[in-house]
Order: sequence, then structure tokens, then C-alpha cells
Amino acid sequence: MASFPGLRLRRLRATPAMRSLAAETRVHPHDLVAPLFVIEGRGLRREIKSMPGQFQFSVDKLAAEAAALFELGVPAVMLFGIPGAAAKTPDARKAYAKDGIVQKAVAELKRRVPGLSVFTDLCLCEYTTHGHCGILEAPLALGTARAGRVIANDPTLEVLARIAVSHAGAGADWVAPSDMMDGRVAAIRRALDTAGHPSVGILSYAAKSASAFYGPFREAAASAPAFGDRRSHQMDPGNGREAMREIEQDLAEGADMVMVKPALPCLDLIRDARERFSAPIAAYNVSGEYSMVHAAAQRGWGDLQGLRDESLGAIKRAGAGIIVTYWARSFAEDFRRRRGLDHGY
Ligand code: PBG
Repeated sequence: MASFPGLRLRRLRATPAMRSLAAETRVHPHDLVAPLFVIEGRGLRREIKSMPGQFQFSVDKLAAEAAALFELGVPAVMLFGIPGAAAKTPDARKAYAKDGIVQKAVAELKRRVPGLSVFTDLCLCEYTTHGHCGILEAPLALGTARAGRVIANDPTLEVLARIAVSHAGAGADWVAPSDMMDGRVAAIRRALDTAGHPSVGILSYAAKSASAFYGPFREAAASAPAFGDRRSHQMDPGNGREAMREIEQDLAEGADMVMVKPALPCLDLIRDARERFSAPIAAYNVSGEYSMVHAAAQRGWGDLQGLRDESLGAIKRAGAGIIVTYWARSFAEDFRRRRGLDHGY
């Protein structure tokens, strides 16, 4: 068995060319999905304070961003609709309105960037007055949601199914349920097929934990719960075996791809899922993972590009074939600038 001094692993790292040959993990823009936030209005491109370099776009500006991403090699976007306070109701009915914000955005993207895959995030939280991901049990009069009420699973499935059909009708290629209700994948699959959308795929947020890393997103999407938290449906971050049961269940119900979320705190789960299941595994490199890198870089505590590339590389090495990430545009731009060369020789 070779050992030092015969074995010298530094030979593999001696030059940029050798480092390139020995590289085990390469992130490519083709691996990435860019989350995009869409708002009502025209000509708007509002920077999100808690997420530097991320914007809320009106539909017209959104298409330009999506076209730029597609041209840079990013094959897909994930749309988040921000309907505005006036459109929120306890039953989230604006989420499946024909002229809803996501529906308009999808139609425009399919018209302007036909080759781009359009995924839509499927949840109620941006559309409910109370900010919860489902219908509350025993609904009281409008706007009187109060602490301690329970999210009713099965009535929520009907709403999710309606939203999915509505997104598909607008032209969405994939829907991505992020609510963590039981049985939603089967309900959505059935509804899509019945409505004549058998080719619309389901990317399930299968193993999604009740994470503190979603903080910046809730500001971006105005979707923080008005009371309580999400621990009755999102998972305990410490539960790895349960995460595998969630994935198994969603695949059994017909999910085409499954997602682990958040990504960096769950690299072990990404690896476990990769080893156990043969379906494509996606990971969501969430808002907190993105914003804390920016916060550190702003203070001079780390190099932004280095932290970004190492984050994405770790997620890919763990086993994610698809990474949903706010870094998509900046990574793809730098990738192009480097002409795809990791080591710059
Ligand atoms: C729910 C949803 C959330 C995120 C994606 N979909 C927020 C939540 O569950 O509270 C978080 C994404 C991020 O933090 O980047 N619709």
C-alpha cells in the first residue's frame, strides 16, 4: 500500500491544469434553478433589502430577467407570486384566479422565453390573510384568525389542487408544492391529469424543515405567519429518518422530482436521498443561506464569490443534481466570464 513518502497527494494539486483534471465536482449553470419574485404593476424592479442582488419584478421586467438567465444557460426558474395585501383572503382564493399574479407571469414567460422551464411554487402562505400554508380549521369571519388554530389538511388539498390546475392552465411546465400537507402530491397529480395536464411535472418540496433560514424570504414574499409558526407541518430539522419517509411517500404519490430544503444544513439528507432513491434530487439553497453569505462579505469576513462557489459545490457534492438558488445569475455570469474554466489556466 502506497503511503508517504511514496504517496504524495499534493501531486494532484500541483498546477491549475492538474487541479482541473483532478476536480471531482463541477457546478454548471445547467444545474441551477433561479427563484424569481413577481409583483403587480409595471416597470418595477425593486431590490429586496434582506436579499442583496434579488428583486421583486413586475411581469414585464420579470420576462427580461428570465430571458437573461436562460441566455446564460440557466434552464429553469421558480416563480413566487406576491399578490399584495388587498388580494389576501383566509381561503387564499386569489391563488387560483385566472388573472392572478403567477398566472399572468407564467403566460408572459412562456410567450417571451419559450425554451425556459417554468416552475411555480405552490403554497397558500402568500395568499392567506393569516400567512399560514393552509386553510384554518373552523374558519371564523374574515380577518379574525387567532392563535392556536389548526391547519386543516384535507380541505387544503382541494385548494392546492385548484392552484396547480390554474398554474398549468396558464402554461406552467412544473408545479412545486412547498406546503408540506399530507397527500398533496397525489391530490395534485390527480387534479392535473383530470384537467388534461398529464405532462405537467411535480417537483415536491418533500423534506422541508421548519427552518430559521427562511427569514429573508418571508420579508421578500410578505408571507410570515401572523401568529404561531410552521412546526405542525414543516419538519423538525433534526429528523433525518422522517425526511426519508417524506420523500418515499411523495415519490409513491407520483412526484417526478423531490427536494430537500434547506440545503447546507441538510447535506447529509441530500446524500441519504441520493443513495436511496433514483429520482432526481433537488436542493433549495434558501434565502438565509444566501443572505448570510452577503452579510459576511459586506463586513469583509469572507469572499463573496468563494463562499458562493463553495456553497454550490458542497450541495452538488452531497448529491443534488438540481440546485434552486438565488446565486443562479451571478454564478452563471461569472461562469461565462471564466469561459467555464475553474482554475483559470
Ligand atoms: C413557502 C415557501 C417558503 C420558501 C419557499 N417556499 C417559506 C416558508 O416555508 O416559510 C422559503 C425559500 C427561502 O427561504 O429561500 N411558500
